[in-house]
Amino acid sequence: MRILQGVDLVELERFREVFSRHPSFAQDLFTDAERAYCESRRDSSVHFAGRFAAKEAVLKALGIGITTGIDRAFREVEVSRTDSGKPMLHFHGWVATLSDRLRVRQTTVSISHSADYVIATVILLSQVG
Ligand SMILES: CC(C)(COP(=O)(O)OP(=O)(O)OC[C@H]1O[C@@H](n2cnc3c(N)ncnc32)[C@H](O)[C@@H]1OP(=O)(O)O)[C@@H](O)C(=O)NCCC(=O)NCCS
Repeated sequence: MRILQGVDLVELERFREVFSRHPSFAQDLFTDAERAYCESRRDSSVHFAGRFAAKEAVLKALGIGITTGIDRAFREVEVSRTDSGKPMLHFHGWVATLSDRLRVRQTTVSISHSADYVIATVILLSQVG
């Protein structure tokens, strides 16, 4: 088993700024279910930022940089929630193909918010290597 790890820290003020300048981000980067959850919360940006960080952390763990220019990959990483609120990862499309290629057998994600920052960490267990 090989551990693939990713982490991402989002500065909330900057995130809110970029998000308000590009309203299409919500549509471009998040799935319908993610948007429904975030928009149901009092301060949706905080929850969007957590999911954004989780997506970036997944791409880091998989070895794909954001600089690869793959907006689509953001929508192909989906964060859902259990009944208790625990976040879970789902991969679609090309990200799922890559994850299969790396024989990823287990995934975990954890998200935390403070007044100024949001952080997400991701661990993927791969059977390759
Ligand atoms: C999980 C918990 C420790 C979060 O702590 P917190 O300091 O309030 O919040 P943080 O900013 O650190 O983290 C928030 C994130 O924790 C994650 N989280 C929420 N519930 C979780 C759980 N049961 N297990 C793991 N992670 C959880 C979510 O990703 C959440 O962000 P999101 O709403 O954008 O998805 C706290 O909510 C808790 O003790 N929950 C226990 C389960 C519970 O009582 N659930 C209530 C539903 S009945």
